[in-house]
Amino acid sequence: MDLPADVVTRLRDALHETGFTYDAVAAVLGPVAHAALSRNETTPGLRATRDGSPLSTLTRLWLLQAPVPVADVERALPDLLDPLCLAGLLERSVGEVRARLDLRPYADEDHDWWVVSDLTPGLDGAGARVGPDHVLGISSASSSLAQLTVRDPVDRALDLGTGCGVQALHLAAHAGTVVATDVNERALAVTRLNAALNEVAVDVRAGSLYEPVAGETFDLVVTNPPFVVSPATGERLVYRDSGLPGDEMVRRVVTGAARHLAPGGRAQVLANWVHRRGEAWEERLSGWLEGSGCDAWVVQREVADPAEYVELWLKDAGLHGAPDYAERYDTWLSWFDDEAVEGVGFGWLDLRRVDRDPVLRLEHWPYDVEQPLGPEIADHGRRTDFLAARPGLADELLVARVDVREESVGAPGAADPETIVLRQQRGMRRAHQADTVVAGLVGACDGDLTVGQVLDALGTLLERAGLREEYAAEVRDLVTTGFLTPGP
Ligand SMILES: C[S@@+](CC[C@H](N)C(=O)[O-])C[C@H]1O[C@@H](n2cnc3c(N)ncnc32)[C@H](O)[C@@H]1O
Repeated sequence: MDLPADVVTRLRDALHETGFTYDAVAAVLGPVAHAALSRNETTPGLRATRDGSPLSTLTRLWLLQAPVPVADVERALPDLLDPLCLAGLLERSVGEVRARLDLRPYADEDHDWWVVSDLTPGLDGAGARVGPDHVLGISSASSSLAQLTVRDPVDRALDLGTGCGVQALHLAAHAGTVVATDVNERALAVTRLNAALNEVAVDVRAGSLYEPVAGETFDLVVTNPPFVVSPATGERLVYRDSGLPGDEMVRRVVTGAARHLAPGGRAQVLANWVHRRGEAWEERLSGWLEGSGCDAWVVQREVADPAEYVELWLKDAGLHGAPDYAERYDTWLSWFDDEAVEGVGFGWLDLRRVDRDPVLRLEHWPYDVEQPLGPEIADHGRRTDFLAARPGLADELLVARVDVREESVGAPGAADPETIVLRQQRGMRRAHQADTVVAGLVGACDGDLTVGQVLDALGTLLERAGLREEYAAEVRDLVTTGFLTPGP
């Protein structure tokens, strides 16, 4: 996997020359084959890439894992076949070349990268068994974390459990220094290669959890750790199994984060957590967060029951239908029973080191949200700071967020609607059931009058006294949830 610098340069040049970008590959495949490939089906893609062009050749070689004639590879990757075989990226038989590692373009709105990883397992229904030190490519969890990450410019960033280094590549676009850690030496080698290929500086370090960064602080920590909740016995796939029982890995990531955050620094963690009989999940996670000195916003996106959870991860490991599938399933469920595990929550945590009393918000939000969500998470932090500094909001100028829409439902011709719902089109896409006062307040919040002035005017109009006191808590909630934001 170690490629000499001149080979990396020539590989990059060849990929550039071919125009091996995310958009170009999507275009050569076309929407049907592209969608099929996302379901791990290659047949439509193979039909779409028969023209022998360098772009088709690289797509067949790496994304579709098809054998490609030597002559085609020599045309697409001039003078690179031997060094890439030597480094273990490709392998050559008599007349054909196959990929031994994946190399594919990856992009966000502003950047294009190439990412090397182990080959995607399980194409076309083939067994999805992988080795214990498998280096995962870009998974849906990788994308979730990348989309959650707040992309404000920062000085120092840490990617804990870097895998193929995908988060590190993103971080390098907005952080002065990026440190990437992993316990898997193969992952570290792949991350070094990806950093070199994409001409970004990443300080790659070996070690578990925060060991490689002892005594150091960061402005941003991102991690998609091996969070699978299991008994931690038997073989371990290092990309998903921490070797620690239950959600202990996530607990250690979360409780250790604060020590490594610079003032104002933020840690964003993708995670699974246990729902234990007799213990609310919010209590469990609050226990991890107490005393951290961090604000925390925790969002649970879904909850799997024990059986669903075990099936998901046994299938992920390619074990569905294996001779010992039922035995493994049963053992895992027995462990859940012994540990009183009733379900497993999937979600994320956003921690921010603050120098005041921390604010914790934990919520179950299984609904559709805007992607990327990073800007809303940054804004949530700013709104939390604003509220923490203001016990009352009556004297504040607030503005309704521009994406908020009002839905009124009622009988045709009725003087008043039966229900009014304020709905966000962006961010968390929340809905807030409003009465006439709240609808009137949000409608009038354009930054000209203070909250108190608007409520007084509504009080006069509706002939109701005491609206400032009555609605104080709801106005705070409207700011927390983003319907109202600090004014100009
Ligand atoms: C789910 S993968 C995430 C990879 C990548 N960051 C992403 O977002 O796709 C988890 C990574 O954590 C690494 N890992 C496992 N145990 C670890 C530990 N104790 N400390 C640090 N990293 C660990 C694995 O080797 C793997 O690369």
